[in-house]
Formats: sequence, C-alpha cells, structure tokens
Amino acid sequence: MNLAILGAGQLGQMLALAGVPLGIKACFLDPQPDAPGSRVGAQLIADYADRAALDRLSTQCQLATFDFENVPVDAAAYLAGRIPLHPSPQALAQSQDRLREKTLFRSLGIPTAPFQAVDSLAELVAAAGQIGLPAILKTRRFGYDGKGQVWLRESADCAAAWHQLGGQDLILEGVVAFRRELSLIAARRPSGETAFYPLAENVHRGGVLDMSRPALPHPALQAQAEAYGRRLLDQLDYVGVLALELFDCAAGLLANEFAPRVHNSGHWTIEGAVTSQFENHLRAILDWPLGETGLTGPCAMRNCLGVMPDTGRVLAIPGTHVHDYGKSPRPGRKLGHITVTAPDDAHLIQRLEALEGLLIAS
Ligand SMILES: Nc1ncnc2c1ncn2[C@@H]1O[C@H](COP(=O)(O)OP(=O)(O)O)[C@@H](O)[C@H]1O
Ligand SMILES: [Mg+2]
Repeated sequence: MNLAILGAGQLGQMLALAGVPLGIKACFLDPQPDAPGSRVGAQLIADYADRAALDRLSTQCQLATFDFENVPVDAAAYLAGRIPLHPSPQALAQSQDRLREKTLFRSLGIPTAPFQAVDSLAELVAAAGQIGLPAILKTRRFGYDGKGQVWLRESADCAAAWHQLGGQDLILEGVVAFRRELSLIAARRPSGETAFYPLAENVHRGGVLDMSRPALPHPALQAQAEAYGRRLLDQLDYVGVLALELFDCAAGLLANEFAPRVHNSGHWTIEGAVTSQFENHLRAILDWPLGETGLTGPCAMRNCLGVMPDTGRVLAIPGTHVHDYGKSPRPGRKLGHITVTAPDDAHLIQRLEALEGLLIAS
C-alpha cells in the first residue's frame, strides 16, 4: 500500500516510520530537496501546486494525507479528486485561517479568547479599545511557532504593530491569563469512532514548544477537552489525527487553535503511549481499528532547538529516546526531540534534570 504524503518534514518522516511495520510505503511531495521524509520514503521534489507531480502521486499511491497545514487547499482538493485524501481539504481550509478557526470554535460553543478581524489601523485601534490590552495582533494565515505575532501592551503600540504586519489579513486577540497550556490529540475514523490521548501539558519558550508531557490526570478537565474535541471532529466529519491547543484558565478551558495533523505535543506517544499518534493517524485514514491511547508510564518530551545534543551523552541517561530529524542546524530550528521515560515520577524528574544539562550545554 503506497501512501502519498504532502510535506516531507519530520512529521512525515515519523508517519512513514510508523507505516513500515503496517506494510505502508510513503511517497512524499515537498519542494524542499532532502527533506527529512526523503530518508524514509521516495520524495518528489516539486511545488505543491504542480499538477503533474500531483498526477504522478495519484497514479503511484492509493491514499493521501499531509504533514503540513499550509499545503494549498487547491492542491489538496485536486489530489482528493483523484485518490482519497484525509483529513479533508475542508478541514485543512478551516485550520489555515485563524479567523475562520476561532469563528468555528465559537459556533460550536467552544470558548476562545476575545478576537476581532482587523483590516486597517483604525480598526486595530478600535479593536484594541474593545478587547482591551494587552492583546496580540496575529496574521490570520501562515503563522507558526509564534511567527507573525506582535504583542500590544499600550494603545501607543498600535501604529508600530500595524506597520509591522499591516497589508495582510489580521486578527487581534485578547491575551489570556492561562495557568498552563494543554493540548488534546484525537484520532477519528470515517465511521465516527474516536480516540483521545490523555491531555498533554506544554511549555513554550519564545513561542516555540520546548517541553510536552502527559498532564497529571484530571478527569473533569479531560472530559471537558474531549467534549470540545468531539464537537470539532464531528462538525468537520474529520478523519485522521487532530491536535487541539487549549489554554487552562481559572474560568475553564479556552481553545486556541487546532492542527489538522499529528502534532509536536504528541511526540511522547511514540514511547509513552500504547499506540503512537503516528500509527493512529494511519489507522484512522485507512479505516482500521484505532489503537489504545493509554500511557505506558511516566514520560516527557523535550525539543532540540537550534542544535542537537551529543547522542551518546543523551543515551547515557537511562530511559532516553533520541529522534534526530537529520536537518541542518539553524538558530531556533526544530532539529529533533528526546523522549524520556521512567518507572516513576522521581526517576523521570532526575532524568529530565540530567538531560537539561546536556540541552543547555549544546
Ligand atoms: N490569546 C493569547 N493569550 C495568551 N497567550 C497566547 C495567545 N495566543 C497565543 N499565545 C501564546 O503564543 C503561542 C503561539 O501562539 P499560537 O496562536 O498557538 O500560534 P502558532 O502556534 O501558530 O505560532 C501560544 O502557544 C501561547 O503561548
Ligand atoms: Mg500554536
């Protein structure tokens, strides 16, 4: 069975790896030569909009998915006209625009931060007055890892923020005083059968995910997150894995955004859950029974940003699992991740402290 994957980043690489024991062979399309996926599957190097490349994929493969939410919707729809593609181009489109995404949350009764579309400096000033400050001006499209965002602390900041981001579709969001950031990874089959992982707790540094680990069990919070997740999945008639980013606030959970794909905050599921998010994505899109999502034991994931620590020294810490994406180093770039497992929380903390020393040193 050949699976077409639009995007050959590390997520595609890990999807392909999960597919090997299931007899699935990955064929990637990505304009970037030597993308991480090319190490584990064939890569067509062409633009996503390249119809000839999409035609070739559709003759070589029986099914398609993507590892990247900024794949042009037109390209996804074109491929979906030839072979089944999951998640759907409609779900992809909803996730590409922060205004549509938050409007969808609202329409489903899923609370969000206050937000308003902004199309001029005058509208920005008015929105800042209504929403209140601090607030964050964000591009509606193409933002990731905190890029395309400017914080407004006082009304005098409006002009500079507009100067920086104006000319694109924008949204202003009120800053939420969250206690922590959580995410819910879910998988849904065409029949509607759905599985949820335990909520993950995420720590960002400079807008980029630094650490992710299963949150301490909190049944009421888990139930609330799953209720929101289920509404979203059912509304989109979603097939595949989806990640819902949440803010845990005094007043309850607020939804921030969703990713129509496997997610960095679910990487710990490779070693820390019975079935990984990557395998469950494949099971979902192939309409195979979903795998168990329970934890196998205490675990946590750290991202390697800008530089990979020495593999041998990391592996000298018991319970560590190194994932090197084979990317060339650049400041702040996600080059890999390390998952730490342990028999109990005390050992997990010790091992994370030992790893911290290596991440700082590198
Ligand atoms: N409304 C908000 N209030 C408080 N913090 C926010 C808000 N929006 C974003 N952030 C912070 O910025 C990070 C990145 O923003 P996000 O909307 O998730 O964009 P992306 O992940 O696409 O770059 C979030 O994980 C959170 O830490
Ligand atoms: Mg985010």
